[in-house]
Amino acid sequence: MCGIFGYVGPRRAAGPMILDALKRLEYRGYDSWGVAVGIDGHVGLSKRAGRIGDAVVDLPDACIGFGHTRWATHGGVSDVNAHPHLDCTGRFAVIHNGIIENFRTLRSRLESRGHVFRSETDTEVVSHLIEETVGASSEPCTVVEAVRQVFAMLRGLNAVIVLDTVTQQLVAAKNVSPLVVGRGEDAAYIASDAVALVGHAREVHYVEDREIVALGPDGVQFYDSATGAPRAAAFVPLTLREADMSLNGFDHYLIKEIHEQPRVLRRIAENYAEPVHHLAELISEAYGSFLIGCGTSSYAALTGSYLFSRIARRHVNFAVGSEFKYQEHFLTDRSLVIALSQSGETADIIDAVMAAKRAGARVAALVNVPGSTLDRLADFSIHLGAGPEQSVLSTKSYTAKVAILMLTAHVLNGSEHVGREHLWRAVDGVEQALAPASVQRIQEIAAYMADKEHCFVIGRGLSYPTALEAALKIKEISYIHAEGFAGGELKHGVIALVEEGTPCLVFSPIDETRDDILSGAMELRSRGGFIVGISPEPEEVFDIHLPVADVGDASPLVGVIPAQLLGYYLALRRGLDPDKPRNLAKSVTVK
Ligand code: M6R
Repeated sequence: MCGIFGYVGPRRAAGPMILDALKRLEYRGYDSWGVAVGIDGHVGLSKRAGRIGDAVVDLPDACIGFGHTRWATHGGVSDVNAHPHLDCTGRFAVIHNGIIENFRTLRSRLESRGHVFRSETDTEVVSHLIEETVGASSEPCTVVEAVRQVFAMLRGLNAVIVLDTVTQQLVAAKNVSPLVVGRGEDAAYIASDAVALVGHAREVHYVEDREIVALGPDGVQFYDSATGAPRAAAFVPLTLREADMSLNGFDHYLIKEIHEQPRVLRRIAENYAEPVHHLAELISEAYGSFLIGCGTSSYAALTGSYLFSRIARRHVNFAVGSEFKYQEHFLTDRSLVIALSQSGETADIIDAVMAAKRAGARVAALVNVPGSTLDRLADFSIHLGAGPEQSVLSTKSYTAKVAILMLTAHVLNGSEHVGREHLWRAVDGVEQALAPASVQRIQEIAAYMADKEHCFVIGRGLSYPTALEAALKIKEISYIHAEGFAGGELKHGVIALVEEGTPCLVFSPIDETRDDILSGAMELRSRGGFIVGISPEPEEVFDIHLPVADVGDASPLVGVIPAQLLGYYLALRRGLDPDKPRNLAKSVTVK
């Protein structure tokens, strides 16, 4: 959460360039934004609550500066709580991603020593601590050394950058929270996410937890955070392209990414034999495997658990990432944890993976962002290859994870050719679900549902996690209360909420769940529910039928598409921004 972008180089108009780069990072948080530039010992600052939109910065010319988009944790959404935060003298500015868990103690000590705080944020302690450490030392203390000492005082998962307007340096340190340094023609950059460096940097280095990085007039230097000694760091080419980041003629990233799914799945069907075999091998060698994920990734993980049991007759445990550490898993050096994450930065997943590694378990990752923290922590990673997912809603990375797990289950079962055939059918099925006639149907349903308050979604077996994911897609973007259920659970309580006209989505693929799910649909209809059936075949109980292809074990891949589209068109109907739902951010890097 929170987007960070910093620049040091020859361009004098650093401020507007930084603001522009921040727009690409807004999906990490859009409660407020701020830009600071360094001019001869003082800071030029522009910051405001709300989205960047058409904002312009009126800042003096400068060759160094940084910016921040905020997802608020400590301190409300206000101009004054927007980053950057200054020290008492105005020499230093600080931006930060994470939560400084011991900030209250640090703040009260600083206040007792006379420091005046302007904001309610945890971040501001860093500015004052840097000011003290640089100023109070009997020996001259460099800002690099000050950052090293101050960062060691902070508890929690944090990334911090300090702008020193005297030395004209940006100095950064991190613990788990991501930072990437970029080098271009004659300039250096630092960001929370490589996407912000596209069009600027040619090569990148993913900052390690044990590094302090300084960007300044002399280029980029790295230091050991334990000793302060200089250290070397390797850069790799930045492979993302400008074209991957554009809207390509679509109105929003969400609809663009929904439409990219046939291409993503086709690529997996064609190219993923080797990594899928390796994952299958790891699972068969392991004595206990666990699939973990958060949000949409957790539903992909749960789908995986069903797929392994159904196809490979193998029990692969499932746990929600944020709950994993609260269960006794008896993890050993023979266990395998398979962590699913689009961003590779979700704090609850990183936490769970680090705990698993401490227990000696092996870690495999299904991750979309190469170079992300999860990617680097894992013993083995499968890159989803879905391309940048810029809408806050996960879509193409979900179907990519499910496709890979489905193929892996078939490899374990010795029926790889069947898995591949189902996946190819799903590629066609997803294309059909995105065809104009299907989209028009969805738009009609969106018109019916737009003023409803509640919606229920049911599925059984393999379609149960699909129902959970469908409900999430609808609620997080349209703000309609949508609840997903295992179809059999309805009569244990939920059915009490169904009344005349309540929209109920029913997933009914042609599999062993069909008869039971249709009786559930009947029970809903008898209580007034308006039944939208997502199924290869029409049924009498459906008020509206959304046809999807019959694709065997790949049914979650085609089933979820109408729900993704429904979320999108409901958001449009309700006048909401489909790419930036309220209160959310793309990468959840706080616990
Ligand atoms: O990057 P990750 O896959 O680890 O993210 C997990 C969740 O934060 C994410 O799926 C979230 O639930 C999305 N808003 C779903 O659309």
